[in-house]
Amino acid sequence: MRHLLAIDDLSRDDLEEILDLTSSMVEVSGRSIPKVPALRGRTVVSLFYEDSTRTRLSFDSAAKRLSADTMSFAVSSSSISKGESIRDTVETIEAMGMDAIVVRHGYSGVPAQIARWTQASVVNAGDGWHQHPTQALLDSYTIRDHLGDLEGRRIAIVGDVVHSRVARSNIEAFNRLGASVVLVAPPTLLPSALSSWPVEVTEDFDSVIPELDVCYLLRIQRERASEALVPSLREYTARFGLTAARARRLHSKALIMHPGPMNRGVEIAGDVAEQDNAVVAEQVANGVAVRMAVLFLLLGPGRAGAASQSVFEPVGIEEI
Ligand code: CP
Repeated sequence: MRHLLAIDDLSRDDLEEILDLTSSMVEVSGRSIPKVPALRGRTVVSLFYEDSTRTRLSFDSAAKRLSADTMSFAVSSSSISKGESIRDTVETIEAMGMDAIVVRHGYSGVPAQIARWTQASVVNAGDGWHQHPTQALLDSYTIRDHLGDLEGRRIAIVGDVVHSRVARSNIEAFNRLGASVVLVAPPTLLPSALSSWPVEVTEDFDSVIPELDVCYLLRIQRERASEALVPSLREYTARFGLTAARARRLHSKALIMHPGPMNRGVEIAGDVAEQDNAVVAEQVANGVAVRMAVLFLLLGPGRAGAASQSVFEPVGIEEI
């Protein structure tokens, strides 16, 4: 694997290899000193043109747990604010030495374009409405961790699908791993051409709730004006929110998931987000391990190295 740009680039075997390796990274993350020498001497740069809490911090944490050097790039305080182009920015960072660049941008396709300009590995950390592949990997891992397998599982993705790179990535990953996906949304929050998507679609949230293994809520994306596509947030919540009454109709082992940040009281009730079967915090924790696996596969010693124990041996306290 040279880059990670989209779930579409990964076969089922590739997905399962990443999820298997994530289990090793979860074990590393649970150690008293969660650090191994696997990527010592490698440099990972974060280039985020859009805001982020979870993705940016977890890539940073993942790189550090693998002993890579990190550089984080704040767009607002960089020469981008003086008009420097993306290409010149990337070439400038590359001249300082980097092995991987983690990119988030508001326009679809920017990470793929950067991959054509650089020798470094590029990881898509979210591009426009297009893809957010590591989100799909951490969500798949979280489901597998709880339910054992995605094969034959019934997953609802509920809400603002049209603006959602998370939905596009997750539909592909869940489908490839054997789950069936039903989209639950008003027509205004669905893409106009859905015929090629491997999904069912309904507006009737209440009818699908009892059959679900996973109820995955999407954020109403206020920054992408999704509020303007529903009559009111109150009406949206009444028809498409996971209220306490709806959550009671899920079967007892069904998982409640959300990529964050949540709009509590809109797509998910505040109390529902705190239930035992709501695994939002686990999704975040697994995000670090999944990103460790991705960086290791891109920059590490390859499959032979993954089989070797030495890269996962603890770093001595004197080496930190
Ligand atoms: N889920 C997600 O991508 O969150 P951030 O925007 O905080 O990175």
